[in-house]
Amino acid sequence: MIPPGKTLGVLGGGQLGRMFAHAAERLGYRVHIYEPSTDSPAAEVSAHAVHAPYTDLESLEAFVRGCDVVTYEFENIPTEPLWRLENAAVFHPKWQILEVAQNRLREKTWLRKNNFPHVRFAECEAGGDLAEAIRSIGLPCVVKTADFGYDGKGQQKVTDDLSLGRAVASFKGQRAVVEQWVDFKCELSVIVARSTAGEMQCFPVAENIHTKHILDFSILPARIAPGIQAKACAIAEAIAERLCLTGLLAVELFLTDRGELLVNEMAPRPHNSGHWSLDGCVTSQFEQHVRAVTGLPLGDVSLTAPAVVMVNILGDAWKWAHDKCVGEPDWAAVLGTPRAHLHLYGKKEPRPGRKMGHFTVTAESTEAALELARALKAAL
Ligand SMILES: Nc1ncnc2c1ncn2[C@@H]1O[C@H](COP(=O)(O)OP(=O)(O)O)[C@@H](O)[C@H]1O
Ligand SMILES: [Mg+2]
Repeated sequence: MIPPGKTLGVLGGGQLGRMFAHAAERLGYRVHIYEPSTDSPAAEVSAHAVHAPYTDLESLEAFVRGCDVVTYEFENIPTEPLWRLENAAVFHPKWQILEVAQNRLREKTWLRKNNFPHVRFAECEAGGDLAEAIRSIGLPCVVKTADFGYDGKGQQKVTDDLSLGRAVASFKGQRAVVEQWVDFKCELSVIVARSTAGEMQCFPVAENIHTKHILDFSILPARIAPGIQAKACAIAEAIAERLCLTGLLAVELFLTDRGELLVNEMAPRPHNSGHWSLDGCVTSQFEQHVRAVTGLPLGDVSLTAPAVVMVNILGDAWKWAHDKCVGEPDWAAVLGTPRAHLHLYGKKEPRPGRKMGHFTVTAESTEAALELARALKAAL
């Protein structure tokens, strides 16, 4: 057990690190952030920050040696420095899990090999025959880069010969994954915590609505049958166990019309679709992450209201004229609503599509929560 007062190191300095730091600090820990960029939402609220590349072995080693445990808020970290430093500090989760989660091809191959339900896919090696891989899956399908994709970046849907030609041209030479298009009934996500003491706890399943491939709304509880809830949690827990995970794991799933659950993606860290837990759950995902990596008992994950909705606030909500930002959103409505809670990440530069903050609303019913959330979003 790593008791309060000790130092927790976080690799990555974005908003997830910022909210982790808030939770850790409340429990009496010190947080150190390692983040290449100097514009870091997490560094601003932490005791100490190092700004250096992840590949700078010397800086990274000095950093991890100064921490009692090291965790992540971002999975796209080169793993070679991490395995070299394996014995220099305690890491939760281990670098092998990052390696699986940071590359779609490895992730999907791992799911297939371990018999977890997944979306049918074909692999296209760098310089391989993408058209052939697309034909093997059939249309419609979606082509995704194997590495470093997020918020729908590096993805193209293929529906006909024209879009097939476009995909072949734009993915030329790249390693890619071709996935069957899933006409899902809804998208779900589950966050599971597994502590260094082996304890496991699954948050309630979130129903997620994406707009332009970016998370827009998370709805709690998800509007699905209890049996599907239980099945989604069982899948996430089984993945966490198979990975020997210590920390948090978010699993994104598609629910099909036939009631099938298919794993889309997984991330070994707090997740955007878990932000609702800051205001709508007894224990937030960030506090649970702290508890899991320090070996503290895990917290209760009950909802604190009948319904919770989280809304992402993107840079698009700022006022724009000719591609220049000319003003910020009107926060009055969200700040003036007792059942709404505003969270801003302190990012200096708004950009369309950039996650700048979020708000949550709680209500007596899902309909009421959604209605209020939509109205407050429009009022921004
Ligand atoms: N095979 C698919 N079928 C249907 N929709 C998909 C498929 N893959 C991705 N999407 C849509 O695009 C969104 C983003 O894709 P995802 O694979 O989660 O990548 P990332 O979140 O890393 O950008 C998904 O949440 C989903 O809405
Ligand atoms: Mg995703």
